Amino acid sequence: MKLTAAITAVGKYLPPDVLTNADFEKLFDTTDEWIKTRTGISERRILKDPSKATSFMMAEAARRVLEQRNLDPLDIDLIIACTVTPDMMFPATACLVQNEIGAKNAFGFDLNAACSGFLFGLSTGAQFVETGRYKKVLVIGGDKMSSIIDYTDRTTAILFGDGAGAVLLEPSTDGTGVLDHILRSDGSGKDFLYQKAGGSLHPASPETIHNHWHYIYQDGKTVFKSAVTGMADVSAEIMAKNNLQGQDIAYLIPHQANLRIIDATANRMGIDSGKVIINIGRYGNTTAGTIPLALSDAIEQKLFKRGDNLIFAAFGAGYTWGAAWVKWTYNT
Ligand code: COA
Repeated sequence: MKLTAAITAVGKYLPPDVLTNADFEKLFDTTDEWIKTRTGISERRILKDPSKATSFMMAEAARRVLEQRNLDPLDIDLIIACTVTPDMMFPATACLVQNEIGAKNAFGFDLNAACSGFLFGLSTGAQFVETGRYKKVLVIGGDKMSSIIDYTDRTTAILFGDGAGAVLLEPSTDGTGVLDHILRSDGSGKDFLYQKAGGSLHPASPETIHNHWHYIYQDGKTVFKSAVTGMADVSAEIMAKNNLQGQDIAYLIPHQANLRIIDATANRMGIDSGKVIINIGRYGNTTAGTIPLALSDAIEQKLFKRGDNLIFAAFGAGYTWGAAWVKWTYNT
């Protein structure tokens, strides 16, 4: 039987501090009603401790995975850290996580595909397992979005939160695991969602700071249109490619950017809203964290059974987008 990469454990970390829509009402001209209606978000978590960053949240999520499988950190072969908010430009956040959890036998690297980061990381990690080369791969998605948010920009600040989620991939021959994925990029989206400065094109300078170029910029309307089409199309495509109908899908686990984008994707897939894992209301958009956080929440609610067909779907900056078909491995 073909070797597949099964998800055998899922862990998460959410910082304790909560930033509510009411808090934003005090910061700028907005209302709880506007934010909820346009995005579905009520509150988000913020990592306030200035001495902690993305690697801290990722390491916490990874520790929970190790606990679940009763593993020694030395058992881990590979760590893929998916993020757009690395602790530093280098070294890679994956190396910081490796050191923090004591995974001395693992190698690691970072993967930047913005909000599609976890999906791209999952597909990448699955390849390393499917070849038979590695047996325990941690794929971690997480972002400290509060570190790149302009809290005077009401159109962007309301959308994002901090958090991280991790999965363990292990080889399986029982037909469950990551069975297919379709990944896409379109760099012409670069003008609509970006963090302009801090890279080699615009290194930090008084000018970049003055112009707020170290924060996220998003043309929300344009990104929204592309996200609706991209996420819905690729989800429908992966179902058609694998002869899956709406009734075959147990759950859609979508990237949580906007409730209206999620609804459009579910409609296009022909699945009803009860089969969609949604937690955007509590966490906002945690970028590479959303899918593993949603997975973790679903597992806490004991929603999945062995053999369930799950579709993961995401859209993000780049543009990047994609979908994965996962046959779930264990009863939750
Ligand atoms: N509170 C109140 N009003 C706000 C506001 C806020 N927080 N933010 C923006 N507005 C105003 C705008 O200024 C605009 O006013 P105007 O018509 O007087 O110019 C009006 O609301 C409509 O703004 P618009 O940007 O057209 O709203 P929208 O319906 O497109 O919703 C987003 C804005 C950001 C919620 C939406 O575009 C979105 O979710 N985009 C995609 C997000 C996404 O998926 N990003 C990441 C991909 S991973």
